[in-house]
Amino acid sequence: MAPLQVEVYNPNGKYRVISTKPMPGTRWINLLIEQDCRLEICTQKKTILSVEDIISLIGDKCDGVIGQLTEDWGETLFSALSRAGGKAFSNMAVGYNNVDVNAANKYGVAVGNTPGVLTETTAELAASLSLAAARRIVEADEFMRAGLYDGWLPHLFVGNLLKGQTVGVIGAGRIGSAYARMMVEGFKMNLIYYDLYQSTRLEKFVTAYGQFLKANGEQPVTWKRASSMDEVLREADVISLHPVLDKTTYHLVNKERLAMMKKEAILVNCSRGPVVDEVALVEHLKANPMFRVGLDVFEDEPYMKPGLGEMKNAIVVPHIASASKWTREGMATLAALNVLGKIKGYPVWADPNNVEPFLNESSRPPAASPSIVNSKALGLPVSKL
Ligand code: GLV
Repeated sequence: MAPLQVEVYNPNGKYRVISTKPMPGTRWINLLIEQDCRLEICTQKKTILSVEDIISLIGDKCDGVIGQLTEDWGETLFSALSRAGGKAFSNMAVGYNNVDVNAANKYGVAVGNTPGVLTETTAELAASLSLAAARRIVEADEFMRAGLYDGWLPHLFVGNLLKGQTVGVIGAGRIGSAYARMMVEGFKMNLIYYDLYQSTRLEKFVTAYGQFLKANGEQPVTWKRASSMDEVLREADVISLHPVLDKTTYHLVNKERLAMMKKEAILVNCSRGPVVDEVALVEHLKANPMFRVGLDVFEDEPYMKPGLGEMKNAIVVPHIASASKWTREGMATLAALNVLGKIKGYPVWADPNNVEPFLNESSRPPAASPSIVNSKALGLPVSKL
């Protein structure tokens, strides 16, 4: 196999760090090379690197790798990294269902992710998909460009009014809560959410906003914590999925659950594709033309299940929920600092929900790894900063 193309920065650096992809911004590069890293960025024109490709990049000596959610980080790669002397890996993503954390634990490799920095950006895409689906923006745009508009008509692209309807959130963590707030605050929707944990902050926010609206002579908004996911599916008009993907959330939305939803409901997924049974979804879209869906993620990325691409009531975008410049540059910074921190023996940042200090470009980042998901399993020290 011919070696993959790489771009090398600071060739004489003491620690060899690989990034399997070029990433946005330059701060992450500077932070690594200032700290004595030789950085090798794979520039091969191949979207998804195979396990073999990454093994060849790791070679005989490698201290840490920054990788992507499209890569299969399991036993094979962690053993290769460990043999090369590596102790650190970071996904450039908040989700890490592509990483076998048990395998990483076995080889003592720290696994980083990038929370916090993508919360608002991802929630904004979920909100965009909700609006685009409610107001049929993509269909209408296609119609216009096809030269089909020959005059205003009372029935043309009639969609749903969000104000006063109910937004359902499944998984009210960082991203789910940010999305809920946008929909409640921006469009005055009532909230119903399902999560194993109570989201007191979110509840308080909706209560206070409801009081504010009332004081202004407007209809207040309300919230409800559902006791089951099915309750959300039955009651909400717009439903956005924000769980992590694991065994318990695989095909969480299946044929039976789709059937529980309102005929004119909107379903949005910016989490992970396998949370929805996509074959069942295509059938449901065919049978219910007023049911609409906004999808950022798919079961077998980069593919769509047969028929999905032809459905007018589906909006599909290529896994771009975190794709704002600020967020992507921040993700690159956090991923690089996760790897650097482990290499330098820094502690793990105590609060991965507050990564702001790492993102402030006018100061040096704290001497810590921003977010290591297996820090407890590896017994890593926690920062007191
Ligand atoms: C993107 O999907 C992420 O998990 O960061």
